[in-house]
Amino acid sequence: MAPRLRSNLLYENDDIERIGTFEKQGYRTEPIIYVNGNRVPDDITEKARSNQTLLSFLRDGLNLKGSKLGCAEGGCGACTVMISKYDVESGELKHIAVNACLMPALAADGCHVTTIEGIGSVKDDNLHPIQKAMVEMHGSQCGFCTPGIVVAIYSLYANNCNTKAIEEHMDGNLCRCTGYRPIWDAARSLCDDAEELVRGPCGTSCRECPERDICEQDCNLEDKKKVTADEDEQKVIVTSSKDKMAMKKSLIASSPDWADHPEKLFPSDIIDASSADSWLLRNH
Ligand code: FES
Ligand code: FES
Repeated sequence: MAPRLRSNLLYENDDIERIGTFEKQGYRTEPIIYVNGNRVPDDITEKARSNQTLLSFLRDGLNLKGSKLGCAEGGCGACTVMISKYDVESGELKHIAVNACLMPALAADGCHVTTIEGIGSVKDDNLHPIQKAMVEMHGSQCGFCTPGIVVAIYSLYANNCNTKAIEEHMDGNLCRCTGYRPIWDAARSLCDDAEELVRGPCGTSCRECPERDICEQDCNLEDKKKVTADEDEQKVIVTSSKDKMAMKKSLIASSPDWADHPEKLFPSDIIDASSADSWLLRNH
C-alpha cells in the first residue's frame, strides 16, 4: 500500500498501524500547542507539518508576524520566542528562550509558547515594562531585532535574573543598526542591581569607562571592589537569593501588574493535566 497523507503528515504503513494502536488505547495522535495563553485550535495544529519550524507555524499558521526570520540558522535571535513547560516532578514552570527558526513546530506539543504579541502591545497602551524601557532608552531603530531581544529579556526576567545574567545571555541576539549600548541600558534598567552600574557622577558607566583603571572617583573604586568580590564568590548566573529576586523585585516595584506575567499567561489546563499519561490521552 502506498504511504498515506494524514493531517498533512506523510505516514508510512507501519506508522499508520502504530498510530491506529495508540488511538485504540485512547492516546491522542494530534499535537496540542498553546500560544500566548490560548490553546491553538485543533484545525490549525492538525496542519502543522513534521518538517515545519515553530517560526513558520507561528507566522504562517497563526499569522503572528512579530517573530522575525533573519538568518534561519540560529545566529541572530530575531525569531526568539519563550517556551514554558510545567515540570511535573518539581511542580514548577520552566521558561526558556528558543530560536523558533530551529525548533520543529511539533516539538512544542504540550508547551506554552510566548511570542512578542503575548508580552505587550501599543494597543490600549499595554506595553510591558521591558518594551517601555526599550522605547525610553532608544533601544530600537529599524525594529527588526527588537521583538527577539524583548522576548529574550522577558525569558530572563521570567527566571528572576540579574544584570550579570543579562550580560551573559544576550549574546544570541544581534542588532545591526541601533548598537548594543542602548539595548543593554534598557535591559539592565529593570534590575535592582542596575543603578550602580548605569552611571557615575561624570555621566559614564564605571564598568565601561576607558579610564576605569586610573579613575579615583568613589563610585569606580567601590564598583571595582564589588566586581572583585563577585568574581571571588563564584561565576554563576544567580548568585544569591537576594540577586535571584533582583529583577523581579524591580519590576514589581515599577509595574505591579506585570510582576507575575509569565505565570499568569501560562494556561492552567496544562497544569491540570498533571501526569504524563493523562497529558497523552485523547480527551484533552
Ligand atoms: S532567524 Fe536568526 S536565529 Fe532564528
Ligand atoms: S534595531 Fe535594526 S537590527 Fe536592531
